[in-house]
Amino acid sequence: MIQITDKEFTELVEFMHKNYGINLINKRQLIEGRMSNVLDKMGMKSFSDYITLIKRGNNEHIETLINRLTTNHTFFYREDNHYKFLKEVVLPEHESKSVTRNFNIWSAACSSGEEPYTIAMAIDDYFGAKKSLWNTRILATDISQNVLNKAKEAIYQEESIKGLPPTWKTKYLKKLDNGKYEIIPQIKNEVQFKTFNLMEPIPTLQINKYNLIFCRNVMIYFDVNTKNDLINRLYDALVPGGYLFIGHSETVQREKSKFNYICPAIYRK
Ligand SMILES: C[S@@+](CC[C@H](N)C(=O)[O-])C[C@H]1O[C@@H](n2cnc3c(N)ncnc32)[C@H](O)[C@@H]1O
Repeated sequence: MIQITDKEFTELVEFMHKNYGINLINKRQLIEGRMSNVLDKMGMKSFSDYITLIKRGNNEHIETLINRLTTNHTFFYREDNHYKFLKEVVLPEHESKSVTRNFNIWSAACSSGEEPYTIAMAIDDYFGAKKSLWNTRILATDISQNVLNKAKEAIYQEESIKGLPPTWKTKYLKKLDNGKYEIIPQIKNEVQFKTFNLMEPIPTLQINKYNLIFCRNVMIYFDVNTKNDLINRLYDALVPGGYLFIGHSETVQREKSKFNYICPAIYRK
């Protein structure tokens, strides 16, 4: 295994933190363990050469590094109380109050698309025949082009869809000959995928801000300051009364943010 020196480790930690918000300070062993064979395959003998390469901004290598040290793991209907809250509280509230009939959602760190497609299914299921009267927009972003390509393909293994309500499976998925499942066009067309690094200024829609932001299971990789800063920027990107859903293992420091706590993993502007 290729050992990382103290100097290389500090350099890599600072680079990843500054540019991607990812906190690797306690991940020395993980870096050596998961990156050694990547370096080997590239014919590199030390981390220095690799760090020089990623500092030149080689996206493909940076993506590999992020993918190795974080996880893209996700599945449909994950943390189902968010989808229940969406159907039972957010959508009825919005339906009764909205004058414009716009509903803008952002799935930040969407990985391979299971999260934004579940949101699209929840919305379609809620509005039913009235859906065409609503202008719903789901923006889904991730730093990794790899997962976004998979998301756009919209084909999934049975394992990933098993948590979905059975009626949704029937309504929104088509079983393929190879045993995989494809998202039907009506749901697929609801989601727009884009590459986005959460450390950059947030892409607000031209006129409207977001009614709801899902930012789940990504902040666990960020340090406290990066996380607090991101939460404040997410606050600014929401309409007054808008909701933020975070992962159940994540927290918003209440004294550092203007969000109102609603219930575990749900906050409101
Ligand atoms: C575990 S997945 C979460 C997927 C989904 N939100 C969920 O909860 O199931 C974390 C995702 O965060 C992405 N990610 C990591 N750092 C990021 C950053 N700085 N900006 C945007 N996305 C990032 C990773 O590429 C990965 O796809």
